[in-house]
Amino acid sequence: MKAIRFGIIGTGSIAQRFVSGLAHVPQAEAVAVFNRTTSKANLFAAANQIPQIYATLDELLASDIDAVYIATPHPSHAALSIAALKAGKAVLCEKPAAVTLAELDEVIATAQAAQRLYMEAMKPAFFPLYREIRERIAAGAIGEVKFIRAGFSNPTLPAGHAVLDPAQAGGGLLDIGIYAAFLAVDWLGATSEVQSLGRIGATGVDTFASWQSQHQHGISQLYCGLDVAGSGEALIAGTQGYVLLHDKWWNPARATLVTATGEREELARAPIGSGLNYETAHFCELLRSGQQESPILPHAKTRAALQMTLQSRQAVLGI
Ligand SMILES: NC(=O)c1ccc[n+]([C@@H]2O[C@H](COP(=O)([O-])OP(=O)(O)OC[C@H]3O[C@@H](n4cnc5c(N)ncnc54)[C@H](OP(=O)(O)O)[C@@H]3O)[C@@H](O)[C@H]2O)c1
Repeated sequence: MKAIRFGIIGTGSIAQRFVSGLAHVPQAEAVAVFNRTTSKANLFAAANQIPQIYATLDELLASDIDAVYIATPHPSHAALSIAALKAGKAVLCEKPAAVTLAELDEVIATAQAAQRLYMEAMKPAFFPLYREIRERIAAGAIGEVKFIRAGFSNPTLPAGHAVLDPAQAGGGLLDIGIYAAFLAVDWLGATSEVQSLGRIGATGVDTFASWQSQHQHGISQLYCGLDVAGSGEALIAGTQGYVLLHDKWWNPARATLVTATGEREELARAPIGSGLNYETAHFCELLRSGQQESPILPHAKTRAALQMTLQSRQAVLGI
């Protein structure tokens, strides 16, 4: 089996978790890195035994890597994805995939024109527990899913964090809300209507949003915030029972399945590695088998989740 050779763009906290996860992915390795601050790339490469450091993005993209993992702030995701795809590399890009729908559409069109694999790094979809729940629900464990409730709010971000910065497309919705949007879209399909309430904090980003949506197959009720403490649980409700994903549901490790007649079953699948290894392993399998889009996270799902998040963001920010 051919090893997939990754180049990493950005060397912050999530890039470190990605590299830690790679140790748990068969036949995949980080062989090169680029960061806008080369001194930090040097430290990152040394700490993680990455042999090649490039001073420019162009040099990284001209090298013999198979794929890039993009781990920079939100507004840079689309342009970096497009540059990598045009250079013939497969792209695994951190969430959110883009900060506007127009940007995402350009990324997807570029991936299609270049005939290269492109996937958003929407990690919960690939965790073992989430996959088990998918199988159980497909087998009829809770009937037909018609309602999703999910959210999280974390008021502990330090001043100056990118998520509090409007210039970095900050705010709870694009940071953590996008996970809840993914969950809703994953089970219920795209939205036809989104209703939102929220507030804007001192720095000008959305610091709380509560939004409910009508989807193709049901209704979702979601929240996210940066100014109150809220637990990260998720409810997947079906016609014959429900699954409660326990805190923090987007790193799914424990859940309770309850049938309409009250029978309870505790589900637990502790993830190994950093958890990012599951999405990476899936991405590598797609790349090896010549696929350009994930059947688990197709482009349309990434788009539908971004669309409902941006609709809510526009309503909350009044833009
Ligand atoms: N999947 C997950 O669980 C998860 C968790 C956290 C974050 N994320 C996502 O990952 C992304 C990065 O978050 P993080 O927490 O890793 O951030 P971080 O620790 O601040 O790291 C950001 C990295 O991007 C670089 N960078 C900053 N601005 C840039 C720009 N304009 N162009 C190119 N590179 C730039 C930084 O370079 P310098 O070293 O020069 O500052 C740094 O290497 C975010 O989009 C976030 O949504 C995902």
